[in-house]
Amino acid sequence: MTRTLRLGINIDHVATIRNARGGGLPDPVRAAKLAEDAGADGITAHLREDRRHISDEDIVGLMEQLAVPLNLEMAATDEMLGIALRHKPHAACIVPEKRQERTTEGGLDAAGGKDHLAPFVKALGEAGIRVSLFIEPEPAQLEAALELGAPVIELHTGRYCDSQGSERDHQFKRLTSAARLAENLGLECHAGHGLTFDSVGPIAAIPSVRELNIGHFLIGEAIFGGLDSAIKRMRALMDKARAEADNERSA
Ligand code: PXP
Repeated sequence: MTRTLRLGINIDHVATIRNARGGGLPDPVRAAKLAEDAGADGITAHLREDRRHISDEDIVGLMEQLAVPLNLEMAATDEMLGIALRHKPHAACIVPEKRQERTTEGGLDAAGGKDHLAPFVKALGEAGIRVSLFIEPEPAQLEAALELGAPVIELHTGRYCDSQGSERDHQFKRLTSAARLAENLGLECHAGHGLTFDSVGPIAAIPSVRELNIGHFLIGEAIFGGLDSAIKRMRALMDKARAEADNERSA
């Protein structure tokens, strides 16, 4: 079956739990293999400058053992570029990174940081790595991604997930129009951050979104019902929302 909407599973927080005690358990590579078996189309891992979750050894293990593509999330730094060029993952998603933040709080300022980002996008692209920029759903950011030559953008869904009522409607509209613009500009559109069983449906129904990257919620759900079942449920909710939206459009 050709899937029009891929699911990337972010395994960072398996490493967060491991690192809370030191040692090797739970093993993020084992979680990634399990995610693969449960229907993940790809695995995402963010190697942070401070190595607070994923480690360099995890990247080695993922590259050696995964059958599905690895999407390496990375800051635009020389250190991370060197690591990406050494391992050559299928994809690299450039994210903003601040030491003090708990998670990636906002999108990359591709528009304001074009000069800094250009050599990273170029070097990764020349190495055959599919580059994506994690951005807010703003036209100026998408246009900057196009100018930079990044083939993929990932829309930050955090504000949508964190809001309610009319603010959520507003954030959803920003996402749908950014996804439409991405398609018009010829950029492949991914989305992620903060997605749950409750919030995934509307995002999965946006026709130009090709991939969702989901982590924290699923690792948390795994505590209650297992990772396999959490991923399968997410996959089913995504597929249902996408199929219903496709049917409505063709009716
Ligand atoms: N996409 C990107 C670029 C991210 O940085 C993250 C969080 O690390 C995610 C998706 C997944 O977000 P969450 O863990 O909230 O599902």
